[in-house]
Amino acid sequence: MNMEEKQEKVLYSAVQPSGNLTIGNYVGAIRNWVKLQHEFTCFYAIADMHAITVRQEPAELRRRTLELAALYIACGIDPEQCTLYVQSNVPAHAELAWVLNTLTYVGEMERMTQFKDKSAKHPENVNMGLMDYPVLMAADILLYQTDLVPVGIDQRQHLEITRDIAIRFNNRYGETFRIPEGYIVKEGAKINSLQDPLHKMSKSDENPNASVYLADDRDTILRKFRRAVTDSDNRVIAAEDKPGVTNLLNIYASFKGCTIAEAEKEFDGKGYGDFKLAVGETVADVLAPIQAEQKRLLADKAYLAGVLGRGAENAFRAARRTLSKVYRKIGFYRGE
Ligand code: TRP
Repeated sequence: MNMEEKQEKVLYSAVQPSGNLTIGNYVGAIRNWVKLQHEFTCFYAIADMHAITVRQEPAELRRRTLELAALYIACGIDPEQCTLYVQSNVPAHAELAWVLNTLTYVGEMERMTQFKDKSAKHPENVNMGLMDYPVLMAADILLYQTDLVPVGIDQRQHLEITRDIAIRFNNRYGETFRIPEGYIVKEGAKINSLQDPLHKMSKSDENPNASVYLADDRDTILRKFRRAVTDSDNRVIAAEDKPGVTNLLNIYASFKGCTIAEAEKEFDGKGYGDFKLAVGETVADVLAPIQAEQKRLLADKAYLAGVLGRGAENAFRAARRTLSKVYRKIGFYRGE
């Protein structure tokens, strides 16, 4: 990939420093980000401003933010290849969100699926930030004149509203924002819960056996896979009526780097006990060096501060360009 080609398109993504990341986040997001950083001009943010829309323990939020940065780098995100930064370190996010708020209707925010879900889950804390979450996300994306946003199905609606808001702004004030598109990642199977394999593995699942976390140690990983739901048929094949086994095969193939057919062949004639052990060991073998590297990085706070400081500066510069343009277009006095 030559540099010029790489410069062309901007790709933006972010993860909240809340909850523990699972192997689903690794296969579905982080691992792809590593690849994408070589193809596009990438901005990767740690979305701490989004995280506070539900209650966070301050010390924990700070710790998780740093842990997430270290994890990204440990997974292969190269701060020389992309811009890795903490959202709250770049004030333009809040500033643009305020402007975009004036082009967003209360009714459309009330209808957002995630807002409705989260309001139902935290009825005691339906705060304005929770409702405004999609507008802040629109600000994230639009600040960097983003072309592509790799989003899963749960964020699709937020990307749609981002496009709507951008088009609305451009229509009212003239061409300002690039209209972003979703980037569908071909690789990376969807990883489901080990206990309820018809549903996605989630970082906020209440059943601790349902999700394998990137921070889990080897014993925990092996135990969770041992307890994974399968069926009574004892044949290791992927099939619609075998969601548990199919999910384990998906996980195995994703971590081993083989196809489902190859995995089926490998376990032909073997029982579920051997199979589950092999899946657990394969996952643990991939995670061990990442965890070791994350730990090493977390011991070097000065390095992390340097990386995130440079990331924030880079992001700040890019974001300022868009924000200045926006302020000019809407008629804010700029001293000239
Ligand atoms: N809301 C996203 C999530 O929870 C995180 C996020 C914040 C994001 N800003 C973004 C994702 C901008 C993509 C683009 O997964």
